[in-house]
Amino acid sequence: MAQVDPRADVALMAGYHSPQLDVDVRLNTNEAPGPPPAAFTERLAARLAEVDWHRYPDRSYRALRTALAAQHGVDPAQVFVANGSNEVLQTLCLTYGGAGRRVATFEPTYALHSHIARITGTEVVEGERNDDFTLDLDTVAKVLADADPVITFLCSPNNPTGMVEPEDTIRQVLAMAPGLVVVDEAYGQFAPWSALELVDDDTPLVVTRTYSKTWAMAAARLGYLVGPRCLVDELDKVVLPYHLDAMKQIAGTVALELHDEMEARVAAIVEERGRLVAALTDLPVDVFPSGANFVLFRPRARAGADVWQGLVDRSVLVRNCASWPRLDDCLRVTIGTRGEDDRFLDALKEVLA
Ligand SMILES: Cc1ncc(COP(=O)(O)O)c(C=O)c1O
Repeated sequence: MAQVDPRADVALMAGYHSPQLDVDVRLNTNEAPGPPPAAFTERLAARLAEVDWHRYPDRSYRALRTALAAQHGVDPAQVFVANGSNEVLQTLCLTYGGAGRRVATFEPTYALHSHIARITGTEVVEGERNDDFTLDLDTVAKVLADADPVITFLCSPNNPTGMVEPEDTIRQVLAMAPGLVVVDEAYGQFAPWSALELVDDDTPLVVTRTYSKTWAMAAARLGYLVGPRCLVDELDKVVLPYHLDAMKQIAGTVALELHDEMEARVAAIVEERGRLVAALTDLPVDVFPSGANFVLFRPRARAGADVWQGLVDRSVLVRNCASWPRLDDCLRVTIGTRGEDDRFLDALKEVLA
């Protein structure tokens, strides 16, 4: 086949990688520590048996949209759902970004915000966070005034730092942003407050959420946003017809029926996070405050990459952020089961000894 060149900017991109290794304890991708409740799989199997498989699914996924809207106390027309919150972010960039337009991020933050924006041909302006990973509002004001971004991305709790943006910060960024503010709340249910309460039809704010973490449904690839109706109308034009298959629509709806069980699991993870943080605090590492289902830490006297390798040698995998920009020597550990977390802590103690 004759050589066909990709877009020049795509040819230069590195792609997004999240390496997996064959280990006993996998605490590197912020998944839930266990599967959804048994009632989920049972109900899902029963409902799937009723699907008209020869028909296209409901294009506007009314049942799922209505159930999500009821859960958040908003109108179904304020909800947009896609194949993972990454696809929600991509649809936002396809709709509002593109050639000649810019988005702003504040680093370090979730790498996919800038990656997805670039894939859609949108320029990315990267502002910096303070050394303690908080946002400096003067820096934000300067970046937004210089860049005039169509989307300002925030992430709360922020991945990979785990830190929650205070409500006042989100309000102030909203007041100064020239375009849309997107608050990525992939880990929102683990945090003490949510920007969802600021969403209404007159505010250029959207909050994105995912089923991948709290709902223990990373395999389903399901995420959504809550935002103004007029924005959802535009996204509906851009997304592919029938983008949400029938299985996904049913899985998302069935999960919401088990809201109480899921909330109990979130509470258990938050409690386990407290135990893990307390144990880490006794070790020679700096721990960053987390409102998520993971914790970022930095060994004080050892190179992060060496500590990561020492953990892998003991069959424990955490996320190696040691060489990421602005995250020198940092490692990120997902909250697992009590047993997994003990394996991690024992291995870490050995490595640091
Ligand atoms: C901050 C953040 N946003 C979005 C996502 C993507 O979630 P999804 O599985 O819904 O695409 C992740 C996944 O790790 C994440 O950390």
